[in-house]
Amino acid sequence: MMRTNLLLGAGAVALMAAAATPAEAAGKLTLYCVVDENWCQLMTTEFEKETGIDVAMTRKSSGETYAQVKSEADNPKGDVWWGGTGDPHLQAAEEGLTEAYQSPLNDELHDWALSQYEASGGRTVGIYAGALGFGYNTELLAEKGLEAPKCWADLIKPEFKGEVQMANPNSSGTAYTALATFVQLMGEDEGFDYLKKLHANINQYTKSGSAPIKAAAQGETMVGIVFQHDAVTMKATGAPIAVVSPCEGTGYEIGSMSIIAGARNMEEAEQFYDFALRADVQEKAREAKSYQVPSNKNAEPPPESPKLSDIKLIDYDFAKYGSSDERGRLLKKWDEEVSALPR
Ligand code: F6P
Repeated sequence: MMRTNLLLGAGAVALMAAAATPAEAAGKLTLYCVVDENWCQLMTTEFEKETGIDVAMTRKSSGETYAQVKSEADNPKGDVWWGGTGDPHLQAAEEGLTEAYQSPLNDELHDWALSQYEASGGRTVGIYAGALGFGYNTELLAEKGLEAPKCWADLIKPEFKGEVQMANPNSSGTAYTALATFVQLMGEDEGFDYLKKLHANINQYTKSGSAPIKAAAQGETMVGIVFQHDAVTMKATGAPIAVVSPCEGTGYEIGSMSIIAGARNMEEAEQFYDFALRADVQEKAREAKSYQVPSNKNAEPPPESPKLSDIKLIDYDFAKYGSSDERGRLLKKWDEEVSALPR
């Protein structure tokens, strides 16, 4: 009897050990997330559910995350940098802050997603795309009796003074995309001229790229310069927001993902990387009301997504505007020549 009990006891211990093993072996992951908070949460929960890996997630903007990864380079704390515009991912790759990784899922990706991979020697890859534009609050526009803006040129008209909001390009990838778009669309001198005139109409430079359209949805600003999919998100929540694809044409982002060089949880980082490239996982973005175009060819873009083929896109030079020199130079010039001006 005693022997049986002992045996049972040993069996129970063995069972408990077996049950504990997968969770322990599953490990942990530190994720730097740069999309909308709801999508960050959803990815964290889904990955934890599927793998048992414990994820510590923080959400910051693109430029802020780049600065953090750079400042932690001697003692890396993050494992995966998921999302945000591609430019700082390319800059980080060039500076050796991120690690090359070839996912078996690469075969399923659109060419534009792989172009990030190729340009960076495998250190970053595209996870979604989205076009820049602006959105405005239709009720505020009607109250002020203004004509609906359709072009970039409309936003610098005197009647829009104090009505336009965008993010600061140092912290935000959205705003850096806007800066690089104006330079490519108009030429550098004219682009900076435009930015100076726009500055006179700006009521606030926010830290996060999507904050201006959230403010417009609340009636705190009339116009927000943002990625069009972020304006669609606000529309989907029922806010009186109209989404505009500017008549002159516009730039776009290749939202990207990188593994941080010297990541402490490299195996888990690769697991997350493969997970994030899967079509079924990318399709879940819609559940979080995120409407970027997914990078996996087998993923169905959400029906709400602005169609890139319907938008007049510029031939955005990602390699040039994501290079360390050019990004650094343009941001410095914006600080000195635009943001320093009185409003
Ligand atoms: O809100 C989502 C999103 O617009 C992404 O498409 C984009 O990569 C990211 O935010 C940019 O955020 P930020 O401008 O704050 O760096």
